Amino acid sequence: MKACQPALFWLSVFFGPILGHCVDPATRYEFRQAHDPNGIGKFYMGREIARVMGHEAADWLERPEREEEERAELLIQSLKVRPGEVIADIGVGTGYHARRLAPKVGPSGRIYGVDVQPEMLALLTNKMAELTITNVIPVLGTITNPNLPAASIDLALMVDVYHEFSHPFEMMEAICRSLKPGGRVVFVEFRAEDPKVPIKAVHKMSEAQVKKEMAVQPLEWVETSTVLPWQHVIVFRKPPHLK
Ligand SMILES: C[S@@+](CC[C@H](N)C(=O)[O-])C[C@H]1O[C@@H](n2cnc3c(N)ncnc32)[C@H](O)[C@@H]1O
Repeated sequence: MKACQPALFWLSVFFGPILGHCVDPATRYEFRQAHDPNGIGKFYMGREIARVMGHEAADWLERPEREEEERAELLIQSLKVRPGEVIADIGVGTGYHARRLAPKVGPSGRIYGVDVQPEMLALLTNKMAELTITNVIPVLGTITNPNLPAASIDLALMVDVYHEFSHPFEMMEAICRSLKPGGRVVFVEFRAEDPKVPIKAVHKMSEAQVKKEMAVQPLEWVETSTVLPWQHVIVFRKPPHLK
């Protein structure tokens, strides 16, 4: 991504969020001293980025009450995944969703389980071995790139992850490159609009904020579902004519 031309500098300062594609990478993010203790003090389009959930807290991802709170089975059903599809579960954690997606894509499909913490990938690998699941492939990503093959993914799923990306713009650029034309990106985020959802503020996102941040990416919004008790399911796709 090229930096803005000098003549566009002041425009980018005032209209940066709208002109996301040409905002100088140096000014894309804002840093504030006063910020939420659960955030990293780095802001993107007015939103504070949350701290990454460390692998030490991985048990929380496997809590018994999770199915009742998040209805993962219902989520997977609503995604209407087909046999043979290639899915990227980005920020895979312990593989809570990957293990449910694996039988849906079957032996001719595969799930790339991407994470930036090698310890999470070790937990994922152990869990898949325990369940004799062989079509989940662990991938070590970086904070700017999930390291996925270009134009190869039917569905990129991020459950409770996107708000933690330290470089959301760069991550989404790379994710879009990895999508097949017409491929989907699904954000599952705790609803910021609902004060009754008992999750820390920087770990929630509003639908409007997700849409604002995706407006600078080569994606089109498809639908938002509120079928889950606490989370939005926000679906975008890469336009079919884009390579
Ligand atoms: C709250 S956990 C959610 C895990 C899983 N999606 C689930 O719902 O069980 C967030 C995960 O995202 C990972 N993560 C954060 N930033 C990432 C990035 N840039 N690329 C890939 N994974 C990332 C963290 O390491 C962590 O495992």
